[in-house]
Parts: sequence; C-alpha cells; structure tokens
Amino acid sequence: MQNFEFYNPTKIVFGADTIAKLSTLVPEHARVLILYGGASAEKNGTLAEVRAALGQRHVQEFGGIEPNPSYETMLRAVEQLRREKLDFLLAVGGGSVIDGSKFAAAAALYDGEPWEIMQSFGSAVTAALPLGVVLTLPATGSEMNNGGVITRKSIQTKLPFHSSHVFPRFSVLDPSKTYTLPGKQVANGIADAFVHIVEQYLTYPAGGMAQDRFAEGLLQTLVEIAPRALARPDDYEVRANLMWVASLALNGLIGAGVPQDWATHLIGHELTALYDIDHARTLAIVLPSLLQSQRDAKRAKLLQYGARVWGIDAGGEDERITAAIQRTRAFFESLGIGTRLSDYGLGQEAVDAVVAQLQAHGMTALGEHKKIDLAASRAILHAAL
Ligand code: NZQ
Ligand code: ZN
Repeated sequence: MQNFEFYNPTKIVFGADTIAKLSTLVPEHARVLILYGGASAEKNGTLAEVRAALGQRHVQEFGGIEPNPSYETMLRAVEQLRREKLDFLLAVGGGSVIDGSKFAAAAALYDGEPWEIMQSFGSAVTAALPLGVVLTLPATGSEMNNGGVITRKSIQTKLPFHSSHVFPRFSVLDPSKTYTLPGKQVANGIADAFVHIVEQYLTYPAGGMAQDRFAEGLLQTLVEIAPRALARPDDYEVRANLMWVASLALNGLIGAGVPQDWATHLIGHELTALYDIDHARTLAIVLPSLLQSQRDAKRAKLLQYGARVWGIDAGGEDERITAAIQRTRAFFESLGIGTRLSDYGLGQEAVDAVVAQLQAHGMTALGEHKKIDLAASRAILHAAL
C-alpha cells in the first residue's frame, strides 16, 4: 500500500427530516448566503425548510447557479458576499451548486485575480469562508470532499480545483429530498458515482485490500439498486443507499493509499466544455473506450473487477476482460445513457476538437501511469465514435 494522509472534517447529518437541524448547525450570529440553482429547490419545498430552520439569522440568497457552474456567475456571488459582508455560505443543491459555492467561499477571501485559483488547481487558496451543504442530488461527492469544478464560459475551459479550506463544515443529506429528481439526473448520479469508484480502483494492484473490497462493495451496491432507483422515485431505502454510496465514492476513503486514474474525468470535462453534455454522460462515453485501450496496463485489475463485481469467472483472460468492459458499457446503457459520441450527434470533428482542448489545457500525460498522451486520448475518443 502507498503512504497516505487521510483527512475529512465534514460532519454528515443523514436522514429524513434533518434539514431542521440547520438551526443548530449554522452559527447563531452568522450572516448567511443561501446559494441554489434553478427552480427545483424552491418547487420541492427544500428552500422553505431551509429558510424556516435559519430562523432570525441575517439571510440573503443567490439563485441561478447553472449546471456546470460558471466562473462568470460565481463572481457575482463573490461580489454579493463582499459587498454585504456575509460570512457563511449555505449551498442547497447538487454538485454544481456546491462546487460553485466552494469556489465563491475561496474567492471571497482571495486577494489576487480569482481565476488564479483555477489555474493553480486550488493550491493558491489560503483561506475560505465557512460553507455548509444541503444536498438534493446524489452524484458528485462534493458534499464530503475538498474539490470543485468550474467552467469559464468565455474561453470554454472547465477546470477542477482542490483545497482543504473548502471542505464543507457539514452536509445535510435527506434522501427524501431526491424524490423530485428527473430520471435523467438519477441515472447521471449513478453513473458519476460508479466512475468515481472505478477511477480510484481500476488501475493496478497496490495491496490496498480494504480499499479494493470497499470499492467493489460500493460498485455492487450501485448495480443492485440502480433499477429500483430509476423505477421507484420515492423508495426511501434505495434513495438512502444511493445517497450514501455517492458520498463514500468520493470522500477520500477508497482512494487513500492506492493509485488513481482520473483520465476519464479530464477527457470528459472537455466534452462538457465544448458541447455541454452532462458530466456523467461524458464519463459513460469515455470510460468503456478507455478501459479497452488500457486493457494491458489495467489487466490484473480488470480481471479482478470482472470476477468480483460482475461474477465473470469463466473463459480465458482476454475473454473475461472483454466481458467486463462490455458489462460496464451495458450498465450505462441500462440507465438510458448513450456510450457513443454518435449518440450525442458528434463525429470525427469532436475528436479533433477535444484533443486540441486537452493540449491547450496541458492534459498531455493522464492516467495512473501518466502515459495517456494526446495520441492515446485521440485513440480513445476515436474508438468512442
Ligand atoms: O438547477 P435546479 O433547478 O436546482 O435543477 C438541478 C439541475 O438542473 C436538478 N436538481 C438538483 N436537485 C434536484 C433537481 N431537480 C429536482 N429535484 C431535485 N432534488 O439537477 C440538475 C443537475 O444538477 P447538478 O448540480 O448540475 O448535477 P450534479 O450533482 O451531477 O453536479 C454536476 C457538476 O459537478 C461536477 C461536474 O463536473 C458538474 O459540473 N463534479 C464535481 C465533483 C466534485 N466536486 O467532487 C466531482 C465530479 O466528478 C464532478 O466533476
Ligand atoms: Zn464525476
């Protein structure tokens, strides 16, 4: 096992009717900015519960954070935070609202040009305003990690950042708040969490026995609950398991002490920046093709994944690896998610454009071996046509 440090200070408050606990979770004298996305949190009553729980505190609101939150939008939130001397952010929504809030929390206390936060991938951050979360969409794990992804629309650039200063102080996870999610977002959430686990597990053997078993258990849980999560929106137990699996998938635990890949995400971000394809859908396009192209480098783990997650024991090694990749693709398709660029109306021109973006963003040595260069990315995308 590799050396590691593990740190996760986010307090999780999990369960039905837990939003009322904001009354004690948020400091009594805080000047609060509630941040949210479009209309969903208002429509399903989440915002009303949040406002009620905050009681007599000074509260302002910032709505309209779009999916794939933009730098441009979040600078307006920073302006409000500074102008109104607000000192606590409460993000109510999915990964986009949480990520945007993390960026605003750091940018509000940043003296330089805020884009430097993204250009440094977060290392320039030395402080951030405190942040709490009310999660409405199980998917990204942002509610329990120190990362965020921000898009600067004017230059079609989507970059990740990390800083220990932006861990949420707490996250309230009420599974019943996900009942109103459209099926498409539930499918996206399952696929995103699935790929988060794969990016930290399906590399090469590193002796992380507990990490492997955790990862396999989380993957199997997703496979088990996916059909019910899509068929029965108000099944509390299923939504509770989905929510907790998605948080555990990217809170640092399963990735500690083992190699990590992340090439699928970094290639996928370019597809979102250029063509506005949902984050999870970009992953479903890239991953099966990436596994195919990396099947030699990932050989041992692909065999383990096939056997332990999908029960593929019969046949020769190559046959089993092919079957494991096919099952992965079929799983995404079973969620109603297309796994080919052509499913999104894209062809060869997209391959060229994504490769040019990867080059522009310095994404030229990806994966656990840093061996996915531009030629390898091109081949992966070409095979995904
Ligand atoms: O905007 P509203 O009206 O709220 O609607 C949202 C949005 O349209 C809707 N929604 C959320 N909760 C709902 C709901 N609709 C009905 N009922 C509810 N309870 O869902 C839509 C999508 O929301 P969004 O927050 O964009 O989705 P998601 O949670 O999948 O977040 C995606 C973003 O997270 C980033 C992605 O790149 C993308 O920008 N990621 C963040 C990560 C992290 N911080 O660790 C890791 C991930 O790999 C990912 O990159
Ligand atoms: Zn993701």
